[in-house]
Amino acid sequence: MDISKIIIAVDGYSSTGKSSFAKTVAKEFGLLYLDSGALYRGVTLFAQEENLISPDNTIDTELRNALGRLDLHFGAEGKLYIGERCVEKQIRSMEVSRQVSPVSALAYVRNFVDDKLHAFGASGGVVMDGRDIGATVFPNAEIKVFMTASEQVRARRRYDEMVAKGESPLMEDVLDNLRERDYIDSHREVSPLQKADDAFTLDNSDMSIREEVAWLRGLIQGKLSIREC
Ligand code: DC
Repeated sequence: MDISKIIIAVDGYSSTGKSSFAKTVAKEFGLLYLDSGALYRGVTLFAQEENLISPDNTIDTELRNALGRLDLHFGAEGKLYIGERCVEKQIRSMEVSRQVSPVSALAYVRNFVDDKLHAFGASGGVVMDGRDIGATVFPNAEIKVFMTASEQVRARRRYDEMVAKGESPLMEDVLDNLRERDYIDSHREVSPLQKADDAFTLDNSDMSIREEVAWLRGLIQGKLSIREC
């Protein structure tokens, strides 16, 4: 197994630290990091700006056609862009977080995002985080990790992240949003959040990022030695 060509799929619940883990792993092993959730967030922001989604989450069917003119891509340092505009900050807002799950449950939105993910991952060498990467997008990924952590730990992480960005969320709202997203993500018809049969579970409720990376290194070494036998 050539490490520089592998695909590492990192899936799991919201705010389990998937992106911090995936980013660190990418740096450690010289791979490209791709945040699939950012693309769903970008589509949601676009739908909001085009007035194609109402406050009660009703999505205008026009979104399907509108995607034809959405130029969504990653720019320098893996930041998300719509055309020339960096939208990294906007896609992390509470407003986008509140509406992203219903948008990402639409089959045509998933196809739009999957096409981009397949193009990015075509030649390997990537760490991709999301909900369905190991089970659906890249079922042949060499390494699949399914991340989880307790609800309280996850809500606290999300809360701290938002406060660090200058927002003033209520812990209660953060917890409600987390539970709602978990529910929608796990129960939608198309490609729900699921652990691939061959994924390894990583519960990081009480782990540091260093310990998580050491755990993955062990996993990769194990796979390498098995293949070499
Ligand atoms: O990882 P995140 O919280 O930024 O993801 C935002 C939303 O996108 C999340 O509610 C579920 C959805 N998502 C998905 O359905 N499939 C993926 N592969 C990644 C994200």
